[in-house]
Amino acid sequence: MSKIQQLHTEIDNFVIDSVEKLEQYRLQFLSKKSELQSLLSDIKNIAPEERKQYGILVNELKQKAQNIYDQSKEKLESSVSYSVGLTDVTRSAKGIELGGLHPISIVMNEVCEIFEAIGFSRVPGPEIDDDWHIFSALNFAEEHPARDMQDTFFVHTNPDIALRTHTSSLQVRVMENEKPPIRVICPGRVYRNEAITSRAHCMFHQVEGLYIAENVSFAEMEQTLFYFAKQMFGEGTKIRLRPSYFPFTEPSAEMDVSCNICGGSGCALCKNSGWVEIMGCGMVDPNVLENCNIDSTIYTGYAFGIGIERMTQVKYKTNDIRLFFENDVRFLQQFQAVK
Ligand code: PHE
Repeated sequence: MSKIQQLHTEIDNFVIDSVEKLEQYRLQFLSKKSELQSLLSDIKNIAPEERKQYGILVNELKQKAQNIYDQSKEKLESSVSYSVGLTDVTRSAKGIELGGLHPISIVMNEVCEIFEAIGFSRVPGPEIDDDWHIFSALNFAEEHPARDMQDTFFVHTNPDIALRTHTSSLQVRVMENEKPPIRVICPGRVYRNEAITSRAHCMFHQVEGLYIAENVSFAEMEQTLFYFAKQMFGEGTKIRLRPSYFPFTEPSAEMDVSCNICGGSGCALCKNSGWVEIMGCGMVDPNVLENCNIDSTIYTGYAFGIGIERMTQVKYKTNDIRLFFENDVRFLQQFQAVK
């Protein structure tokens, strides 16, 4: 009995303040060779009338020793991870990274805002459309090469349905459903079955525009597009219209702006010409107006289609169209602060 009392005191006085002390405690009070263990083994040698009382006391002692061990172990372990997890509480927190607009979206919005400010309104529409809206209504002859499998992604179960190759398909929808005067811009993604290179991709973005009213002239188109170019690239920007061909406009032109990378003296982007092509344009062909039930003897109009990737390249001086679709954050991050 006095031994039990003595062990109680020893346990009470034992300070466990480190992992080493904990192990020492275990060896001293809980191991097979400990005094407590021999007290437990002694139960069988105790006189039967005292055995029960003795057993209770020894087991109480053993329980107490074990509890202290368990609690100390838990305390030590949690304090260890505490100190490891917060080695330097003054260290500044990792910054929160904010997303930003994609360069294509930035430029597309800018183009739209310039035209919206002079009375055009934005119209959305489907990326998958039918032959009528993409080609036929726009005066594409039956054998026109743009309908060829080389250029267009058709839906294979239905050759009448395709991914739109330009957003002119939206202009057809507007002309069919609205009466002139019509003044709309159609921003969106378009698809063409082309090999992917630094200059071309199988998908890209356009903002196409359409203005139809009475007495709309080519000169009016030219001045509107000149105004746009100056808003977009700066007051000193020059434009140049070159004769071209589109099935849905007559006459048709391609518009160049003076290269804002080299200022016109010649560089890789403008292929040393000083000019960069940014859009196609022209007077809406009377056949197109008639296809959409607009009287071509009363109304005339102009249309234009701006390639957004090319313009983004000019604006931000990037040299590979593929960068816009790879979405490497190191590339994208460079545009967040730039307007
Ligand atoms: N739809 C033409 C294209 O995708 C661009 C364009 C639009 C040209 C309107 C003239 C007029 O290339």
